[in-house]
Parts: sequence; C-alpha cells; structure tokens
Amino acid sequence: MDTRLLKALQADPGLQRRAAEALRSAGRRAALELRRDGTDPELAAAALTLAELRVKARAKFGERADELYFTREGLEQATRWPVAERRAARLARHADEVSDLCCGLGTDALALAQAGLRVEAVEADAATAALAGANAEALGLEVEVRVGDALAAPLRAAVFSDPARRGGAGRTFDPAAYAPPLDRLLDRLAEAGAAAVKLGPGVRREWLPGGAEAEWVSVDRDVVEACLWLGGAAEVPRRASVCKDGTWHELTGTGEQRAETGGVGRYLYEPDGAVIRAGLVAELAERLGAHTAHPDIAYLYGDELLRSPFARVWKVEEIWPLNAKKVRRMLADRGIGTLTIKQRGTGIDPSKFRNELKLKGSEEATLVATRVGKTHAAILCSEL
Ligand SMILES: C[S@@+](CC[C@H](N)C(=O)[O-])C[C@H]1O[C@@H](n2cnc3c(N)ncnc32)[C@H](O)[C@@H]1O
Repeated sequence: MDTRLLKALQADPGLQRRAAEALRSAGRRAALELRRDGTDPELAAAALTLAELRVKARAKFGERADELYFTREGLEQATRWPVAERRAARLARHADEVSDLCCGLGTDALALAQAGLRVEAVEADAATAALAGANAEALGLEVEVRVGDALAAPLRAAVFSDPARRGGAGRTFDPAAYAPPLDRLLDRLAEAGAAAVKLGPGVRREWLPGGAEAEWVSVDRDVVEACLWLGGAAEVPRRASVCKDGTWHELTGTGEQRAETGGVGRYLYEPDGAVIRAGLVAELAERLGAHTAHPDIAYLYGDELLRSPFARVWKVEEIWPLNAKKVRRMLADRGIGTLTIKQRGTGIDPSKFRNELKLKGSEEATLVATRVGKTHAAILCSEL
C-alpha cells in the first residue's frame, strides 16, 4: 500500500468499517457495494484488501488486528503478538531504550513500546516505515520510526532485529542471503549491550555465534522462529520456549547432551519441534525418565506416564517388524480402519505405505514407523 492510500484510509475510519462490513455481507461483490457510494475505485480496493488482511491477521494478533495496517508481505513476515510481547518483556529487563532494526510493519516495535521501552524503529522501505508509524498511532503507542539502513543506524542500549528472509526469489533459508546479511548484522551488534535477533527456525548450528543463547519458539506445536540472544541478554546456551493453549513453558540446557538409548517402553513421547531443534531432547528425556531407542531419532520411550507441555505421548500397544504385509494382517485382525502414520528414520513414504495396508474396520490407532536399535519397527500406539 503506498503512503497516499495509507493516509486516505487513516483519515477515513468510516470507509474502513464499511469495507469490513461489505466483505462480511457481500463477499466477492464487496467492491461493487463500496463503489456504489462514489468511493474512488483505487481507495475502495485498498480498503477491501486491508479488511481481508485484518481478518487473516487475527490468527497472529487477535482482535487488535482490526486496528492495524498491513500489506500481504508485511503480514507474512510479522511476528505473532504473543511471541513479540514475550520477547519485549525479556529485553525490557536489560534497558529502558531499544533500537528495532528492520522494523517492517512494526509488530515488535509496538510490543517493545508497550513493555515500557523507548523505541527507535529503523526500516529501509519508506512505505513500510509509514505503515509502522500508522500502527503505533493506531494503538496509541510512541515509536520513533526512521527510514534508514539497519547497518548504519545508531544503536541504543538494547537492540532487536528481524532481518528480511524473503527477497525476489521468495523465502530464503540461508542467513547470508537475509537482508541485511546475518554475519554483517551480527558484526554490528557486537557493540550492543543486549540484543535479540529473530531468525528462521531452520537456521543451522554453524550460524550460531559462540557465547550467544539460541532459542527456538513454538506456538501450539508449530515452530515459528528461532531467536539469538546476544551480549548481556544471553542467559543459557539453548532454550526451547513452547506456548501451549496460551501458556509459556521453557526448557533450557547446553544443546550438547545425548539421551541414553534403550528399548521401547510402555509410552512413546514425541518431543515438541522447538525441543528437537534446540538440541534439548536429552534434557527432556531426563525429565520424563525416558530414553531413545536409536541415538539419532528423537522419539523417547518410558515406562511411567508423565504429561509434559514439551511432548505428545502415546501408549505403546504392540511392536512389529516394519513389513507392509505383516502390518496389514495385524491391523486387519484388530479391525483398525483409521490409522495415523508417523515415520522417522525409516525412509518409508507414509502415503504409499498406507495404500499397501488396505485399511478396513471401525477402530482407530497410530502407527509409528521408526528405528529401534538396528531394526526398523512399526509401533502400534493409542492416543492418551
Ligand atoms: C522480517 S521484516 C520485519 C518484521 C517485523 N519484525 C514485524 O514483526 O512486523 C524485515 C524488514 O526489514 C527490512 N529491511 C531489509 N533490509 C534492511 C536494512 N538494511 N535496513 C533496514 N531495514 C531493512 C525489510 O524492508 C522488511 O520490512
């Protein structure tokens, strides 16, 4: 959205309301509905796009989405509100002023301001910076937004940065291709007292600087990001932060420990993706009194049932060799017609394997295809 259209929309809350209402009541005919009262077609289209994006944005922002200004790309890249809010509270323990370098639409800047920090937000793209300013105004928060280069901006006592991971060629997983490139950003942040840098959740170990804390964050089992904590803000080598039904849980450790290996137990635990990526499976195993059945596979087994926000748990019913014909016969004998198939470390394609099973029957179960010691096994489990 260009700055002219943004200003026109900001000046006309009535049009924003009519667009949201037209979208609800008229669906695809909403544009006609809006233009009937003489609204400029370009402005009507911008108001409708915004109304659509606000509906989508509720998944990340809850009801405050209805006050905010978005672009499609900006919304995709924006941090979800509970994650931004939590990070802001942690940074606020280190300083009372913060630079948000690469602020985008300003989600993190808003959360930082709401946490009581004085925020200077820097954004390279002028139209995006204008949206960040409009968003601060919409929530009644004070954020100083500047158009500029993150690598040249002056640093406040604390710094947050969320470099762009999307370019002309789409999403990038390579930190050297972030904008700005991660190594240059980290060089710059070496001067900051306390800093946090948001990364893609797939970031590899070799990109994690020594002395930094690397945190992986999941929300309702979806690993949404990694975050590097630098300088005075680094507390532990690794952290997994898991938000389940609106409550946060944290597991910390070195990321270097290996879980003990043994046989399949009465219960099978599947660690949350944030725990696996943070390399904290051994720490979780210790809490659960559990172990792996293969050193490289992150399923845990134990004989005691312990509920944990960091893992899903199933009751192990039977263990068979991973052979489609045998498994088919066993499932048929038990009348299992609805089967969830999970696989790790066996290389099978679950949908092809399912076709070979010719499922029939009224019972439900989960089948975990995995490695147990040197063998490939099919573990029949029931949900608890
Ligand atoms: C991932 S988005 C930020 C999203 C933001 N944290 C949020 O939650 O709304 C990254 C932003 O960095 C901006 N950017 C890229 N290179 C930059 C640079 N060198 N200096 C400042 N901003 C830059 C992009 O224009 C983009 O808006």
